[in-house]
Amino acid sequence: MEIPKQMKAFRFNHYGDIAENQRTAVPTVGPQDVLVYVRNSGLNPVDYKIQAGKLKTLFSFQLPLTMGNEFAGEVVQVGSQVQNFVVGDRVYGRPDNEHTGTLADYIAVPAQEIALLPDELDFQAASGVPLTGLTSYQALVELGHVQPGQKVFIQAGAGGIGTMAIQIAKALGAYVTTTASPEKTALVRSLGADQVINYHENYFADVLFHYDLVFDTLGGKYLRDSFKIVRPGGHVVTINGLPTYQFGQRHGFGLAKSLLFGAVSAPLRRLARKYRVHYDFLIMHPSGTQLQVLSQLIEAETLLPIIDRIYAFGETQAAYDYLESGHAQGKVIVNVNN
Ligand SMILES: NC(=O)c1ccc[n+]([C@@H]2O[C@H](COP(=O)([O-])OP(=O)(O)OC[C@H]3O[C@@H](n4cnc5c(N)ncnc54)[C@H](OP(=O)(O)O)[C@@H]3O)[C@@H](O)[C@H]2O)c1
Repeated sequence: MEIPKQMKAFRFNHYGDIAENQRTAVPTVGPQDVLVYVRNSGLNPVDYKIQAGKLKTLFSFQLPLTMGNEFAGEVVQVGSQVQNFVVGDRVYGRPDNEHTGTLADYIAVPAQEIALLPDELDFQAASGVPLTGLTSYQALVELGHVQPGQKVFIQAGAGGIGTMAIQIAKALGAYVTTTASPEKTALVRSLGADQVINYHENYFADVLFHYDLVFDTLGGKYLRDSFKIVRPGGHVVTINGLPTYQFGQRHGFGLAKSLLFGAVSAPLRRLARKYRVHYDFLIMHPSGTQLQVLSQLIEAETLLPIIDRIYAFGETQAAYDYLESGHAQGKVIVNVNN
């Protein structure tokens, strides 16, 4: 395939601006990168949070910025030091923040951040796996250390994260409880949820107790009340809470920012001490190796990506509007070149 110099990309110029289809340069490939012709991109709430400038304290992006944080496509060029991928490979991934921008014809991404697509998956289904799959894996395995037989509570089981997290927790052998609207109960049960709470009728913290892990996706009062339902020594892992001093140190934010994180999360850490529970804030990280584990679960038919809606590239803003309504059931996908 001949690689052009220019490509289409869904971009915004300043934080708070609307994004639109623009022409921009095809990215260049470093020695450890591959260039991928993007077939599909999954959408995630982090995309519109970045666009609105809500994550400026945590990450700096170079503007204008192409949106999109997960993709599936074909390798069209490999860097001089890349050994494990060749032109023509079907791959998927969640690029790091310096290589973000999956709503474009091409993306250059470090080879260590991608994996081969399982044979069973087409590009559309695969493009919705990396970000939510890796986040769930890191929450449940890296931070939560979930063991067979443990009781795991997952907030918002029908969303992009929830549909992945339920299946991964079941694959780890956990007993899984989740929350969902009545019309979404059948879906989360089909994914393996053992107990489903209709969150319009019951508040989770009033009916659950002695859990080994809460995976919080909602933050606010849902996060604060999570501590009440965890046994001493258990874990609360949030992807929508407040970072801690340790998080800042682990991720190289420097002393000043780490101290700030420590200050803002002090009330949560007090709750963690009161209930003798481990508290962790997770910002997911790209990992080709962990993506291979997810590929194995998909090949074993233990993990199935749930797709809600698929949009044409020209309808990307409508796709984001739907996702931002907060009622997606599984993943929202854009056909970039499909
Ligand atoms: N820190 C990280 O690394 C990281 C990574 C990924 C995601 N996140 C964050 O995690 C959050 C969830 O992401 P997502 O992709 O799952 O979002 P999503 O797909 O937009 O979630 C939508 C789902 O949430 C359900 N929901 C909303 N409020 C609920 C409630 N009170 N109780 C139960 N279910 C509820 C909705 O069901 P109904 O329609 O029935 O209300 C819907 O199915 C976002 O804020 C995202 O930014 C963080």
